[in-house]
Amino acid sequence: MNIVIVNSATEGAKKAFTLFEQSFQEKAIVFGLATGSTPIELYQLLRESDLDFSDKISINLDEYIGLSAKDEHSYHYFMREQLFNDKPFKENHIPNGLEHCEEIEISRYENILKQYPIDLQLLGLGTNAHIGFNEPGTSFDTRTHKVALTESTIQANKRFFEKEEDVPTYAYSMGLQSIMDAKKIVLLAFGENKAQAVKDMIEGPVTIDVPASILQKHDDVTIIIDECAASLLKRS
Ligand code: GLP
Repeated sequence: MNIVIVNSATEGAKKAFTLFEQSFQEKAIVFGLATGSTPIELYQLLRESDLDFSDKISINLDEYIGLSAKDEHSYHYFMREQLFNDKPFKENHIPNGLEHCEEIEISRYENILKQYPIDLQLLGLGTNAHIGFNEPGTSFDTRTHKVALTESTIQANKRFFEKEEDVPTYAYSMGLQSIMDAKKIVLLAFGENKAQAVKDMIEGPVTIDVPASILQKHDDVTIIIDECAASLLKRS
């Protein structure tokens, strides 16, 4: 794992932006994208940049089940606001939260991932070390699947909703193996509330109790963290 410790989230976004620029130079086509508050500054840099995504393909990690693409709490909406309205891609793919038949949605999304292997996968990190919506206990060999959100994820994400009861309890998510299939991975984590998850991900054993620990087995992963998120790491 290539660990980059920066002074602030803003500096972390700048560093991640340079990795996007580099991937453009390397002719990357398929970008795996993430939601959450962590990548917002990076998306701003991408929006304001002159990078042209019109021949690129995006594949998002996850979507809440039960929310339409028009719902302002959906990840479809988030991605349009944060990036796609300003930077048109050739194709954007996000799980369909309104598809109630999980077999149909899983096979549709898996076909997309097979057709378009991900060149650069962007990740955030849940406070319980989830990536995508792969909660602790998720098997490492999972591909796209339907997940029940844990209480801690519902608590962490309720800030985006008016009432806790409005937070969806299920999501479709790329699995841990789908994420590991990406050629390059960049994970961002900022703030003290991520410090334990960061420590477990980097220094702990590779275990399904810490989903992000599987990244230790990937051969091209960059972890960009600020000093607060790095505060529990052993420093040499
Ligand atoms: C959600 C998303 C994850 C994201 C995580 C962290 O659960 N499914 O992809 O990484 O939240 O969110 P934040 O960046 O807001 O801390």
